[in-house]
Amino acid sequence: MILVTGGAGYIGSHFVLSVLGKGENVVVFDSLETGHIETIETLKKYGNLKFIHGNLKNLDEIRGVFLVNKAIKAVVHFAAYSQVAESMKNPQKYYYNNVYGTLNLLNAMLEFGVKKLVFSSTAAVYGEPEYTPIDEKHPQNPINPYGNSKLMIERILDDYDKAYGLKSVRLRYFNAAGADSKARIGEWHEPETHLIPNILKAEKDKSFKMFGTDYDTKDGTCVRDYINVEDLTEAHIKALKYLMEGGTTSCFNLGTSNGSSVKEVFKVCEEIKGESIPVEVLPRRNGDPAILVADNKKALELLDWKPEKDLKDSIRTAYNWEKVNKH
Ligand code: UFG
Repeated sequence: MILVTGGAGYIGSHFVLSVLGKGENVVVFDSLETGHIETIETLKKYGNLKFIHGNLKNLDEIRGVFLVNKAIKAVVHFAAYSQVAESMKNPQKYYYNNVYGTLNLLNAMLEFGVKKLVFSSTAAVYGEPEYTPIDEKHPQNPINPYGNSKLMIERILDDYDKAYGLKSVRLRYFNAAGADSKARIGEWHEPETHLIPNILKAEKDKSFKMFGTDYDTKDGTCVRDYINVEDLTEAHIKALKYLMEGGTTSCFNLGTSNGSSVKEVFKVCEEIKGESIPVEVLPRRNGDPAILVADNKKALELLDWKPEKDLKDSIRTAYNWEKVNKH
């Protein structure tokens, strides 16, 4: 049995769907602040899923999960607030939820002797890139509280391994993209801040806002590494296997190692929608580095993982999901 925190959210729900399909028993613990009960209802159709509504900030609630589910052998921890801009306005919310919430989870894991954890980290732990593509040895200097909160947890996990033997894999996502290939679930944030859903949602009276065309990049717009959410899911499954087979505490970048600019993404969205999308160019958004691309060699070698899907696949599935979710 696996415990998945944040299993009602975007990346967590795709992971749950995939492991349910492999016959695994799953307990999802989610506060539903940013995740959706509708997603849980959908997931329940595809396997043995137990849903527990609770908040990691409450130690008793997460202890209770382990108390009644003694078969939990590992935890995959997605639950977190993840909006960079919001974290700058309200750091307390981020440190309290992400760091304190994780401390409670770790506390409960240790009490019940569960010592394997896959943790959702982020490219934001690196901060402004000093070189690109970014490998795992790149200096870690986050430039916002969101990235800081994730880096703090990574450091806590190092210490918990040394002191208590808790083994963890931190997966540093670059830009997660796309949806379930059968459009059963997909990206659903309120408000939506991410590039691909925002382009796809644009309409005649609600144009897509392109933030900055004066960056020092191939076409003046920011370059990102869009990694398909089903490929991300697969990496979590491989990371769990790695831990179960005695793998040591480690971190891995999850990206494709290919960069796409905002204008390139926009063009593929137009192709897939089969129509021109209204766009408005605005000044740069605060805190956006020009280029963020992963060096993914470590995950390829040690996790035996390889991204199978490209940007077009991600945009196609995101669009199919958008049509379903709109209704
Ligand atoms: N963008 C637009 N218009 C929009 C939304 C985004 O032009 O409506 C641009 C952004 O300015 C940026 C690019 O599209 O240049 C990608 O933006 P996203 O918001 O989709 O993604 P980010 O790269 O900002 O954020 C991602 C993750 C974060 C993580 C961060 C690390 O979503 O969780 O990478 O830097 F913290």
